[in-house]
Parts: sequence; C-alpha cells; structure tokens
Amino acid sequence: MAQSTAVTSGHDSARRAGIRTAIVPAAGLGTRFLPATKSVPKELLPVVDTPGIEHVATEAAEAGLDRLVIVTSPGKDAVAQYFRAQPELEAELRSRGKDKLVEKIRRAPNLLAKVETAIQEKALGLGHAIGCAEPNLDDDEQAVAVLLPDDLVLPRGVLRRMIDTRARYGGTVLCAFDIPLDEISPYGVFDVEDTDDADVKKVNGMVEKPSPEEAPSTYAAAGRYLLDRAIFDAIRRTEPGRGGEIQVTDAIALLISEGHPVHVVVHRGGRHDLGNPGGFLRAAVDFALEDPEYGPELRTWLRGRIGE
Ligand code: G1P
Repeated sequence: MAQSTAVTSGHDSARRAGIRTAIVPAAGLGTRFLPATKSVPKELLPVVDTPGIEHVATEAAEAGLDRLVIVTSPGKDAVAQYFRAQPELEAELRSRGKDKLVEKIRRAPNLLAKVETAIQEKALGLGHAIGCAEPNLDDDEQAVAVLLPDDLVLPRGVLRRMIDTRARYGGTVLCAFDIPLDEISPYGVFDVEDTDDADVKKVNGMVEKPSPEEAPSTYAAAGRYLLDRAIFDAIRRTEPGRGGEIQVTDAIALLISEGHPVHVVVHRGGRHDLGNPGGFLRAAVDFALEDPEYGPELRTWLRGRIGE
C-alpha cells in the first residue's frame, strides 16, 4: 500500500487551472505524541526516515503546485526549516563520499519553488488556520489546495483528479473516503448525490464529526481540499462550531447553502492517519515493509515476533 505513483502530467492541469498554492496546517501542539512533541513538531516525526510533511509536499509538487504555505504557531520554525537547503551539511556529507544522503537531504528543499509560513497565533481550528494563509496568496489565485499533513492518501494522485473535477464543475472539490459507519465520527461527513462518474459525487451538505446516527452518508473528508477562494470570506463568516473551533467543514457547509458548487472525488486507495501513535506506527511499518533496505529483514523479524 505504501507504494506511490508519480504523477508527472499534473503540472499542466494545475497550471491551466491557475492553482499554485498548497496550504499545510501545522500549528497544532501534537498532544497525542507527547513527550516527543515537547521539542520535535509532530509533522517532522519520521515515517521510516522521511517526515510525513515531506510526503504531503511531494504530493503537492506532483500535482503541479509550486508554493507551500505552512501554517505554524509562533516559534515553531522547525517545519519550515526542514524545507531550507543546508549547504554546510551537504558539503560535509560530500566530503565523506555520502552522495546518496546529499540527494536525500536536497529532496525537500527542491520540491517546490516557494516555501512560506503563515502564523496562526491561537489554535482556533482548521478553518481559522486555513484563513491565516490568505495573505500569502496572489490576487489572481482563484482556488487553493489544502493538505493535512496527518493524512497520507495513497497512491498519490488524488489532488490532480480533484483539479480536473474543478475544471469540469467549478467551485470546491474535496477528497472522500468510504468509511464504515461505526468509524465515521472523527470525520467531516458529506451528504452526497451521484453524478455520471461513479467516483465523483455532488455534495449537498457537510457535518463535522457526527455520531453514526447523524451521519448523512459514509463518505468522509480525508485531508485533501481544493477550495475556491470564496472559502476565505466564508471562514470569516463562520462561528465557532464543534469543539469551539472555527471548522472548515462549517465554512464549506455555508458555501453549499449559498449555492456554491461542491463535489468530492471518492478515493478508493489507501490512507494512513499519522495523527495518532497507532496510525503512525502502521504507516511506518507499511512504508518500511516496502523499503528495499529495511523491508526484507523487518518482514522476517515481524513474522517471528508475531509468531512468538
Ligand atoms: C479534520 C477535519 C475533518 C476531516 C479530518 C480528516 O479533523 O476537521 O473534517 O475528516 O481532518 O483527517 P481532525 O482530524 O483534525 O480532527
């Protein structure tokens, strides 16, 4: 499942559609990973040897985007730092003949032309975090991608399908997973209607973290959003909702109620939730098993360990 498919032709559709920016909300406290997150941001915890945020930035680059806006909290600069070149470390590694490692450390800084930060002063919710990135956009950007760094959507490529869907229907396009009803309550859930494409549904409403009884469907939001610029105005008009936070789900529901077209692309592939230690460990094992260096030995060890 960890294998990823490079999307090389994403650049054209994104460029044609004028979509350039990926917002990555990364201002959280990472409480579920304490004590490690006392000093290491959750987004930098390595899945094998690569932080989750690099996987997400790779997805944005492959979809043809060229700017990453990392929404972070005051003083939490390490995430942006990860995307800066480190010429001294490179020179040191080269002098030791470690060219393969030089390639690895250059990957993140080379992914996107621009990496910027936006500061979220207070943790007021995902909608609020997204709103903090609005000043980073150019006037002509009519839509923006949002990628939650906790969510790895595999194989990569759904963002490009979302961009194509916006080209057809306009408005806002989100990624949905079909999730068992008894597991639905941690998610934003869509009220959907079929289109002529089995993997694209029209959204008539959206509810954040409903109980199974309240859930309008089993289609849940999974951390990928292609938001029309109208979202920023909607966020400003959105009152705190679930958890006392300004939810992007509520801002999207507001847009829908005003006639703004919203669709979902249903992703039938895999997903890892890096937001809690259990999901993070599953992702690490999944990626490690696919890794030519670590996979074979880990597989043998796991078989023995589980067989004990
Ligand atoms: C956020 C969104 C939710 C979405 C989920 C996906 O919730 O608010 O709508 O389904 O991400 O992971 P969080 O997990 O931040 O509570």
